[in-house]
Amino acid sequence: MCGIVGYLGEKDAEKIIIEGLKKLEYRGYDSAGLACKIGDSVKILKCKGRLSNLEELFEKDPSSAPIAIGHTRWATHGEPSDVNSHPHFNSSKKIAVVHNGIIENYHSIKTELIQKGVKFVSETDTEVIPHLIDSFYDGDLLAAVQKAVRLLRGSFAIAVISADSDEIVAARKESPLVIGVGDGDYYVASDVLAALSYTKRFYYPENGDVIRISKKNGIEIFDASGNAVVREEKYVNISADAATKCGYDHFMLKEINEQPDACANTILRYCYDNNISLDLKNIKDLSRYNKIYIVACGTAYHAGLIGKIAIEKYFKIPVTVDIASEFRYYSPFVDDRSIVILISQSGETADTLAALRNSKEAGAYVLSITNVVGSTVARESDDVITTIAGPEIAVASTKAFTTQVVALFLVALYFGRISGNISDSQFDECMDELEKIPEKVREVLKNTDIIKQEAMHIKDYDQLFYIGRGCDRVIGMEGALKLKEISYIYTEAFPAGEMKHGPIALIQKDTPAIAIITQKDLAEKTISNIKELKARGAYVIAIASEITEELEKTVDKIIPVPEAFGILVAVPAILPCQLLAYYASIFRGNDVDKPRNLAKSVTVE
Ligand code: M6R
Repeated sequence: MCGIVGYLGEKDAEKIIIEGLKKLEYRGYDSAGLACKIGDSVKILKCKGRLSNLEELFEKDPSSAPIAIGHTRWATHGEPSDVNSHPHFNSSKKIAVVHNGIIENYHSIKTELIQKGVKFVSETDTEVIPHLIDSFYDGDLLAAVQKAVRLLRGSFAIAVISADSDEIVAARKESPLVIGVGDGDYYVASDVLAALSYTKRFYYPENGDVIRISKKNGIEIFDASGNAVVREEKYVNISADAATKCGYDHFMLKEINEQPDACANTILRYCYDNNISLDLKNIKDLSRYNKIYIVACGTAYHAGLIGKIAIEKYFKIPVTVDIASEFRYYSPFVDDRSIVILISQSGETADTLAALRNSKEAGAYVLSITNVVGSTVARESDDVITTIAGPEIAVASTKAFTTQVVALFLVALYFGRISGNISDSQFDECMDELEKIPEKVREVLKNTDIIKQEAMHIKDYDQLFYIGRGCDRVIGMEGALKLKEISYIYTEAFPAGEMKHGPIALIQKDTPAIAIITQKDLAEKTISNIKELKARGAYVIAIASEITEELEKTVDKIIPVPEAFGILVAVPAILPCQLLAYYASIFRGNDVDKPRNLAKSVTVE
């Protein structure tokens, strides 16, 4: 995690750094700092806590520098503290470094440097980098960085400045890094969002690249062997507004409300004339594949569980869904007859990336579904489907989930059609139903009063259960993750029929439970399970599209959602779960967009 930013040009570098860091706070927010070059020295301001603390420091001690680098941190090595904040200096305080990633061999490098007399001040892995660069430095910063990064194991995106030169040297391995080209000025960042207000022209350095940025020579890129290379400049068509709240109180609420458009845009991107074109250039004849793995983390994993149902139905091939951190260490049957579908909003999740690489090594065809064009997952996959959700900033994932479900439905239909497992009339019906989804999401958003009321009710409880069957069970799993991560209410989702095998022991008078009921054929069964909870005193809210008299008699409250076709019902039905979590979090006084201990992008293992 962590976000890094750098600026070199005529503008006020520190202000640009602080503005850039605001856009990257989703990557970590337990401390922040910046380093700028003033005359022949480098000044560092850094402190524990939110970026606003750094802003206060800057206001007390402003300067106007042409070159600066900055950092917003999600602690890995060493607690959040002033001293562990980035940037980090070498001993003479002439070389400053910001870093995103983890240096796996920092301990051995540190021991060696200590033996040579270097004194460390922080507990971070990062601090070895400025000292290592210093040990190679003879006036040529680029050469010193090149030598240093060759010794680093793990993941890193770094930006380095020195008191002796007017340049920024950056490097990346595994962690994301972009270089923006402005009007005679240059930006370095973990994500284009940090520089979008100034430019839309970006380079995406490859693994192992080292980049020197200077007024005199502009951007020079060198590959891992030190050869000068040319990387393609890309135009990023995202509005700078995408990274602002646009009048909403929180990014999460904005992103929840963006879901009708996000789903519509994802559908429009791949569907035309009642047909689907996924542009899969590298897939072989479908008949050669005999199994599919869907691999992801967190919310994306839940989308995968829903997608499995549709892919098995239309493509008629077994689908295994696994969590990337497990799959990367145990996936014995992946081979060249496997399709591995990776799902990742950010496209930078370390475990998902490792799963991707292992799968490629095993000969599988790798298709990714990501929301970030040019992300590492996107670049390393055989083919990519991009969800058109726009930047997702809130830590709690919302629009990424619904667009991932849409994308997986498209994959299921596409494979179903090509393999001849789905008839034309079935295909047409699916396409018609898909088109209705954005409107159904809008419908849920029109009536949020009852959701707010129920959020007010559940906010005072410390535990809560979701129950459901089939697709409803997975909607509950995603609902539970949302509640956990932003309201801190301990929430678990169970298959409705499983409660009586143990978890029902946790039900007492007024224990809140939420039942999802969108599947006609399973509704009666779930209602029976609700009765079992009611008999033990539970307070039951139903999120239901199947509203029968029996249900009305059985539960305490019903949050209605529109009926929808097959797995697509997960799209409107997840909205009340997202909103319940959002309002419960607000009512409990939490920081919705930046929940404790979390960061948006998990680029460490
Ligand atoms: O960027 P990714 O989709 O790979 O991220 C995966 C998870 O870290 C992410 O979905 C996480 O679970 C969210 N905070 C859930 O809201």
